[in-house]
Amino acid sequence: MSERTLVLVKPDGVERGLVGEVISRIEKKGLKLVALEMRNVARAVAEEHYAEHKEKPFFGELLEFITSGQVVAMAVEGTRAIAAFRQLAGGTDPVEKATPGTIRGDYCLETQYNLVHGSDSPESAERELKIWFPEL
Ligand code: CMP
Repeated sequence: MSERTLVLVKPDGVERGLVGEVISRIEKKGLKLVALEMRNVARAVAEEHYAEHKEKPFFGELLEFITSGQVVAMAVEGTRAIAAFRQLAGGTDPVEKATPGTIRGDYCLETQYNLVHGSDSPESAERELKIWFPEL
């Protein structure tokens, strides 16, 4: 069943020139880009996007980081796109959870600076896509 997911290349990924690498992996997997935009993230948008982490001890740092530079936001479509991108990204902790061969497993070390975000469920995808691409 075709579905859509939100993918973000976070400021660390943009800064390190890994946007092309992320897009390449998405496209080679067979997923399709349906929207793409580079932008600065307003604090209010970051708070809404990460609302579920509001009570976490790292919430402040998370907002600081995601608003610290440009991000590339994408709407990605395809069969089981949500799970497919999460598999490409690898686990949240790039050392303990993400395996080599995944984006995080191959290119980063810190959980806080883990290069990409992908929606984690159909509910999250719908909520997040409304925030980032209300026109879709
Ligand atoms: P993401 O998929 O964008 O969703 C929430 C983000 O919080 C996660 O990726 C990490 O970047 C960040 N995060 C999760 N756990 C921690 C942690 N223990 N310390 C700092 N950042 C974290």
